[in-house]
Amino acid sequence: MNHPLELEQSLRRTLMSARLEALDLPGLPEIRLWLLNPDYPRTPMSPEEMQAIWQEPAYWIFCWASGLAMARWILDHPETVRGKRVLDFGAGSGVVGVAAAMAGAAEVIACDIDPLALSACQANAALNGVSFTLLDDFFALAEPVDVLLAADVLYDLSNRFFLDEFLARARQVLVADSRVKNFDHPAYEPRGEISATTWPDLDEFDEFRTVRFYASR
Ligand SMILES: C[S@@+](CC[C@H](N)C(=O)[O-])C[C@H]1O[C@@H](n2cnc3c(N)ncnc32)[C@H](O)[C@@H]1O
Repeated sequence: MNHPLELEQSLRRTLMSARLEALDLPGLPEIRLWLLNPDYPRTPMSPEEMQAIWQEPAYWIFCWASGLAMARWILDHPETVRGKRVLDFGAGSGVVGVAAAMAGAAEVIACDIDPLALSACQANAALNGVSFTLLDDFFALAEPVDVLLAADVLYDLSNRFFLDEFLARARQVLVADSRVKNFDHPAYEPRGEISATTWPDLDEFDEFRTVRFYASR
């Protein structure tokens, strides 16, 4: 288990005293991830630090509740991805992709616009003994995939149009989300919900701990 030192150094450009630790995940004992040290101080940040974080948000240092719930769902329903070409859109730490690879996907493409997230995906794939193809531009995908998985990517309103783009590039789409209150798209239907907590724990409101699933019809 090689510590991803370069990745940690890049993270320290924005969070100066942050460390990456290989953490166990609640309710997901099969997977470990390089994430922010849970004892990272929660004191108020300086304006400079806040600005740096807004400019370069390191989503990949958390395993978001939706990613955790979706990884759990994939490991409990391996037939969803077994033998298939799978894309993890907005992969972040790569937790969903790791679960898909463990569940027997033929290929897992980890897609994220953040180059550091793609490095984190690589480190987390290695930590869990799986491998990914990395993709930094969703629109550069050469061929449609069998299954597209997207966890916690609708937090930004400007990302909503992707729901249609997913359908054009995947035979089957599964979305997990804990933030959108009125998910309403005619081509997607609800597929249940799971309780999960973003890790390390951000002490989010209870409303963000219920992850809802939506599948393409
Ligand atoms: C909140 S994180 C979720 C990460 C992971 N899926 C999880 O649940 O832990 C959202 C991720 O989506 C990525 N993202 C945002 N817009 C994107 C886009 N247009 N293409 C690919 N990734 C994108 C961000 O860089 C970030 O890593």
